[in-house]
This record gives sequence, C-alpha cells and structure tokens, in this order.
Amino acid sequence: MRFSDSEWDRWSAGPLLIESKDTGQLLGSTGLMFESATSAAVGYVLAKDAWGHGYATETLQAVTSLAASLGVTRVFALCHPRHRASARVLDKGGFLLNASFIPAQFPNLDGTDRGEALMYLHPPDLHVEPLGDANDVQECARMMASSEPWITLQRTAEGLVPVISDPVKEVHLVRDADGIAAFIILDLRGLTNGYVQTICVRADRRGGGLGAALLGWSEIHIQQQSPNVFLCVSSFNPGAQKFYARLGYERVGVLRDYVISGYDEILMRKTRGPLRRK
Ligand SMILES: CC(C)(COP(=O)(O)OP(=O)(O)OC[C@H]1O[C@@H](n2cnc3c(N)ncnc32)[C@H](O)[C@@H]1OP(=O)(O)O)[C@@H](O)C(=O)NCCC(=O)NCCS
Repeated sequence: MRFSDSEWDRWSAGPLLIESKDTGQLLGSTGLMFESATSAAVGYVLAKDAWGHGYATETLQAVTSLAASLGVTRVFALCHPRHRASARVLDKGGFLLNASFIPAQFPNLDGTDRGEALMYLHPPDLHVEPLGDANDVQECARMMASSEPWITLQRTAEGLVPVISDPVKEVHLVRDADGIAAFIILDLRGLTNGYVQTICVRADRRGGGLGAALLGWSEIHIQQQSPNVFLCVSSFNPGAQKFYARLGYERVGVLRDYVISGYDEILMRKTRGPLRRK
C-alpha cells in the first residue's frame, strides 16, 4: 500500500485494481509504472480463476488509453520470454516486440532464470513526415549546429547540409507551430542496417517525451526490415547515454577518437533477437 501511495503521490497514476463490471469481484491488479512523466510501463496480474475470459486484454486496452489521456508518449511493457499468454495479450493490444535481453527481476521464478525480459512498445501516437524542401534542410542543419554534441564535434550548419540532404538516407520529422520540433536521420544500408545516424529535438521541446516517441516510431519502422537498431552516442553526452540505456539499448563497443581526436563514440544496439530464427 505504501508503494502504491507513493507512486500515486509522485505521478499522475499508479497501481490499480481490476474488478468485474458485473459483480464487483476483485480479479487482479494493473496500472502504470512511471519512469518519467512521459514514459510508463503497463503491467497486469490476474487471479488464476479469472484467466481465460479476456480480462487481461480488456485491462490492457483500458490502461493504454488511460496513459494516452495522461500525456504519456511512451507506453511499454516487459514480459518474460517464456510467458506466451502475456505476449499474446500484448500482441492483441497493439504492442510490438521492441527489445530482447532487458535486465529484469522475476521474483516468482527460480534462480535458473536469466533475469532478462522482452520489451514491448505501443506505437507512439505521432505525426511523422518525410523531410520536405531546402528550407527544412537549412532548419535541421541550424538546429544541429547550435546544439551539443555537434558544437563540441565542430560541425557547422553549412557542413551539415550535405549530411541532411544525402538522398541515400531517410530523414523523418515532426512539426509544431514553431517549425520543426524534432528530426531523425536513418541509414538503412550495410552491416549496421538500421542505423540511427542522428536524432535531434529542438532545445525548447527537450525533456517532454518527444525524443523517445520519435525514436520509438523509427524503431518500429526499422524493425520491419531488421531486428537490430544501432546508434552511436558521444562519450561526453551522458544525458543521451542514459536516455538510450533506459530505452533498451546496450553498449556494444567504443569507437576511439572517431569524429575528432580526444572524444570517443559509443556504439549501442537494441535488438529484438537474432537475424535468423530457429
Ligand atoms: C537526446 C534527445 C534526442 C532526447 O530527446 P527528448 O525529447 O529530450 O527526450 P525525452 O523527453 O523523451 O526523454 C528525456 C531524457 O533524455 C535525456 N536527455 C538527454 N539530453 C537531454 C537534454 N538536453 N534535455 C533533456 N533531457 C535530455 C535525459 O536523460 C532524460 O531522461 P530522464 O527523463 O530520465 O531525465 C534530445 O534531448 C536532444 O535532441 N538532445 C540534443 C541532441 C543529442 O544529444 N542527440 C543525441 C545524439 S547521439
């Protein structure tokens, strides 16, 4: 109860009970577990005699709508890899497998468990459009050149124009009343097929869940063709490193002195699983 109270005190929602609409009987529990004001995990547990009636599916739909109404832009769920029924419920609720090997604790299971979960993501409700004309290119270039990490990496707006307008890359963006609110550049060729080259949220929109939502949208786009999403993050950008780790990215290597001498790039990967399934 203390845990529930503290969650409800801190965030806009927390743990909830599931009751039968007909009889009021207690069937189980559900709720939202917030990581930040805009990112929350859904969960549900039903009493054994309440299994097989579709209550979990109904619960998940209700909690997902609740999250949307509270302005949560990233709704995800963690599921044990062998828990097929739960995966099926997530599937029916519109959630997509987004990452494997997420460290998790399953207190009900014995010590032989690997302590890793699958992460499922609900597709973000975001209006994403392709890069438009030369004005868009200029706006994106200026946004990058005036922000870290590109200031330290000595990138100028002029030098970034060919990067943003490179026709072999995909650039997707989100607009608001003030112009381009965020954009992402994807490179879908080669070994790191599914490479997020750049993500940039306009400075006044940062910390409001837009970056996580645009990255989630891009992961779903990439995962239609590859189970892997790769990206690099600068060694001097701890905020972004924390952001990616929270979203299920794993550090796979360090590219020393990669862009300029004295600074490394950290290669990270999020995976749904192996390239070939058994
Ligand atoms: C990193 C970035 C894309 C995240 O997008 P966002 O919309 O700010 O992120 P969200 O609101 O979804 O999530 C916020 C998280 O981002 C992280 N973050 C990184 N840089 C941040 C910044 N300048 N302002 C706010 N949050 C930042 C924080 O760790 C925060 O986590 P918390 O909620 O646990 O504190 C965005 O902050 C940005 O464009 N930063 C500058 C460019 C950059 O670093 N790009 C990545 C290059 S690898």
